Amino acid sequence: MVAHVTSPSAPDASLQIPRDPSAKDPARQAELIASINRLREETNAVILAHNYQYPEIQDIADYVGDSLGLSQYAATTDADVIAFCGVHFMAETAKILNPSKTVLLPDLAAGCSLADTITAAQLRDWKAQFPGAVVVSYVNTTADVKAESDYCCTSGNAQAIIEAIPEDRTILFCPDMFLGTYLESVTGRKMQVWLGECHVHAGIRPADVNERLAANPKAELLVHPECGCASSCMYRVSTGEIPAERVQVLGTEAMLRRIESSEADEFIVATESGIIHRMQQSAPEAVFRTVSERAICRYMKEITLENLEAALRLRQHVIEVDADVARRAELAIRRMIEIV
Ligand code: 13P
Ligand code: SF4
Repeated sequence: MVAHVTSPSAPDASLQIPRDPSAKDPARQAELIASINRLREETNAVILAHNYQYPEIQDIADYVGDSLGLSQYAATTDADVIAFCGVHFMAETAKILNPSKTVLLPDLAAGCSLADTITAAQLRDWKAQFPGAVVVSYVNTTADVKAESDYCCTSGNAQAIIEAIPEDRTILFCPDMFLGTYLESVTGRKMQVWLGECHVHAGIRPADVNERLAANPKAELLVHPECGCASSCMYRVSTGEIPAERVQVLGTEAMLRRIESSEADEFIVATESGIIHRMQQSAPEAVFRTVSERAICRYMKEITLENLEAALRLRQHVIEVDADVARRAELAIRRMIEIV
């Protein structure tokens, strides 16, 4: 972590990001890292980590990325084992895309409050109300829901997917209402939108954004479209209240690309705070503030060096997807990784 983050003379909670629990015991941490490296070699495993994982997990991973990049990597890896440091639906997606591999999720408690907002039965009922509609599901859904969908998308390609669907078709978009509303505004396309939300991003309120923008007048604001504040930010840009160049609504990987092209050297980050680790690595001189100290996903933080080591050593917890569900979900997922 860069010096300004830990400076004792200028404590600023918005600059701090949570660490792996082993950080409290450096000897144990070194032991775990050595063991994970050895087990990865012995089992021909690849370690994949989402951008929201603890810094220590990101540092040991073979690949760190967003939902789309992780799916694309998982689809083509020739490793025998995929140790997935992310949440359950991501590991399921990896299994569907590369079924001959052993996919491990180090802790089964790594779920997702957004994926929990819709079941396959609820989606079937919704589809019955709109015969002939096209179902676009965000990747943050269970395999059962994907199996009922025509397309999956991630924040990285949702707009391209909506734009690829013929204008005369009704679209049912699930489960994230903030992403759905944002997509309606950027594509100009009216959709039926499921009223689900992620507790982390929904918890990022316009008031948090206003406070940080006022306190950091030179900072650029990076907003994930799952945020409760995304539409209000867009609205404020449209009225001229916030200059357009000060606000970017982007998925996590696009945020990282933006940092490389932006002229700003201060950023307010409106998404899960774990991403700040990669941001600091790509721009060590820049200052990154979380928009809210509450922007922490407890599900992503279920994965630790301790349970990653145990997962590789004990070959646990193996993710399986019912063959019929996998077959039906695969087409929607393949469309997701192909349209970018
Ligand atoms: P992306 O990394 O695809 O932007 O997703 C954010 C997210 O909430 C994953 O759970
Ligand atoms: Fe799910 Fe939200 Fe956590 Fe992403 S941040 S895994 S959407 S609960």
